[in-house]
Amino acid sequence: MAGAKVYSFKEVREHNERKDCWLIIAGKVYDVSPFMEEHPGGDEVLLACTGKDATADFNDIGHTATAKELMPQYCIGEVDASTIPSKHAYCVAPEDASAKPKPDTASEAAWLTVLQLAATLLLLVLAFALQRFAKSKTE
Ligand code: HEM
Repeated sequence: MAGAKVYSFKEVREHNERKDCWLIIAGKVYDVSPFMEEHPGGDEVLLACTGKDATADFNDIGHTATAKELMPQYCIGEVDASTIPSKHAYCVAPEDASAKPKPDTASEAAWLTVLQLAATLLLLVLAFALQRFAKSKTE
């Protein structure tokens, strides 16, 4: 598509209403606003695909050649790929984040018990040695 208009992800994302709906599919930008009511899959599904790269959603449906033939008439340009946020940039889910420290806390507690036992044993040995030492002095 030589000379196609290039949009930033932020710009495309702003068109997220029924009357003004832009989609990103395979690097291209589609203004599907006039197609919302005609779309056999419904308008909700198209709206849900705004604000992101909808390529996977589009492909997962297994759209026929008929659907692909309809696409060029809604194409208004391309998206600047460098402006699309990486999927991996999103944070770890809160439950995962809180789940991680648990094994560390458990092993820390185990180490603490071992250390307490070792300290007690050391004290007992010291007490015994002192008693023996004192006894040998008096003899
Ligand atoms: C320019 C973009 C799109 C066009 C021109 C388009 C066109 C079509 C057409 C013609 C059909 C009828 C079945 C077929 O011929 O494949 C269809 C069905 C469907 N489309 Fe799209 N579509 C577009 C984008 C999307 C997107 C982004 C989604 C998001 C998931 C989607 C979801 C669906 C669903 C759920 C169906 C119904 C499938 C079924 O009932 O089996 N479409 N679409």
